[in-house]
Amino acid sequence: MSLPGRTVETPAAPPDARTHLLNGGSVARYRATLADGVDRVAKRVADADRPFTGVTPAELAPRITGVDLDRPLGDAGAALDELEEVYLRDAVWFHHPRYLAHLNCPVVIPALLGEAVLTAVNSSLDTWDQSAGATLVERRLIDWTAARIGLGPAADGVFTSGGSQSNLQALLLAREEACRDATGPEDRRELLPRLRIITSAAGHFSVQKSAKLLGLAPDAVLTVPTDAQRRMIPAAVRRQIERCRREGLVVMAVVATAGTTDFGSIDPLRDIATLCASAGVWLHVDAAYGCGLLVSPTRRHLLDGIERADSVTVDYHKSFFQPVSSSAVLVRDRRTLRHATYHADYLNPARMVEQRIPNQVDKSLQTTRRFDALKLWLTLRVMGPDGVGALFDEVIERAAGAWELISEDPRFEVVTRSPLSTVVFRYLPTGPNRHHADGANLHAREALAASGAALVASTTVDGRHFLKFTLLNPDTTLDDVGHVLELVARYAGRYVRERTTADLACRVS
Ligand SMILES: Cc1ncc(COP(=O)(O)O)c(C=O)c1O
Repeated sequence: MSLPGRTVETPAAPPDARTHLLNGGSVARYRATLADGVDRVAKRVADADRPFTGVTPAELAPRITGVDLDRPLGDAGAALDELEEVYLRDAVWFHHPRYLAHLNCPVVIPALLGEAVLTAVNSSLDTWDQSAGATLVERRLIDWTAARIGLGPAADGVFTSGGSQSNLQALLLAREEACRDATGPEDRRELLPRLRIITSAAGHFSVQKSAKLLGLAPDAVLTVPTDAQRRMIPAAVRRQIERCRREGLVVMAVVATAGTTDFGSIDPLRDIATLCASAGVWLHVDAAYGCGLLVSPTRRHLLDGIERADSVTVDYHKSFFQPVSSSAVLVRDRRTLRHATYHADYLNPARMVEQRIPNQVDKSLQTTRRFDALKLWLTLRVMGPDGVGALFDEVIERAAGAWELISEDPRFEVVTRSPLSTVVFRYLPTGPNRHHADGANLHAREALAASGAALVASTTVDGRHFLKFTLLNPDTTLDDVGHVLELVARYAGRYVRERTTADLACRVS
């Protein structure tokens, strides 16, 4: 701010600040700096002998809070040395074959090349005048994905930050379609609390979050039961739709899941699509996990019926071996995307639509947005869809092998056989020690993570604690799985023995 009668001079930037800007004069520094960063990561990747060091938040926090952010180190080499301490040394390595926990895939190198290119060019996908060709590349990939799904000639979509955002956007469109006839604010106020979403008990929690963000009633999400294979029961969906009708409630969407987070189960898409079509209800298919089947050379049929959805979520960063973030929401009828459209004079004035200027912000919940599509583009151009699909097929086969291994082992109980790549199981102590099962499985997971030798996830099934393998790494062998099972059995068994001894001591005293 300049004060009357005083000239305020802008302080000069520190002498070398400008040399850090990427421009024609700094490309040598750019090359060397990135090469150094890549070298460090490559060394860590090559040397990782376990997926995690087991570091605790209490151990790591002082190293990070101890960094004085107001006193720069001045050069990237020193910052990378520091980064080894605060991040790289103790990072969780998804490429390690004994990382078996969540839906994190190892990443393919063409996608990493895309990541390096897209961040340096730094296109923003909101408007054509900030992206040019990037917009067309994204559009082409959306068309390609929609064609793989079979959504038809009017389909469209947009890349998003992840499955949660894709689900949110799909449900926003569904809500607006359900409110189409509510012309005035009064009608809308009256209708909103009556809107309902039906999903299964195994659906993703982002459906509940989305309902909250969309201003629906606290009880707007109706979860219907699943069958023994953890698939949504269509008859239960029909009953809910009928009940809602009777009670004056409006089902704005059914969310079917193609690849549930825990069980990898795929809801009966054809039956649910038929139900939704006859009831006139929007069908959203959350294929965040199962979308890898779109490129599977052998298992595409598992998604049959998905082509009848009104909207679909796909997470390339789960089953296309892409780095985070890489996701998209697709719609059967491109006109529905208008519900996410706002025109700002300074950015995407309405006249640009008539001028046929492609502004992706017209379809997106985000404004400034990464060119994540480039990673998928380079992946497809280098490996092709069959290459990606073959990797996904491999992890599905490995999970089937893991399921057999566990089901033949009397120390364990295994839940449903997934058509995808998860295995939910638990260590099950025998006889009177059975009541220690929950504690034993919780302990085994924690002890395993603390050792860093392997990472597995945990979940509950019918109120009991179970462990979960999510296999997304084709490098994971059945020997790895067997080794991790031995570790689980060792930790869980030790826990049970200690508890039994403590129980005995209690009884004696
Ligand atoms: C079935 C399903 N849907 C949606 C999501 C959310 O995806 P994201 O973590 O990319 O937001 C997940 C995440 O695990 C998922 O498994």
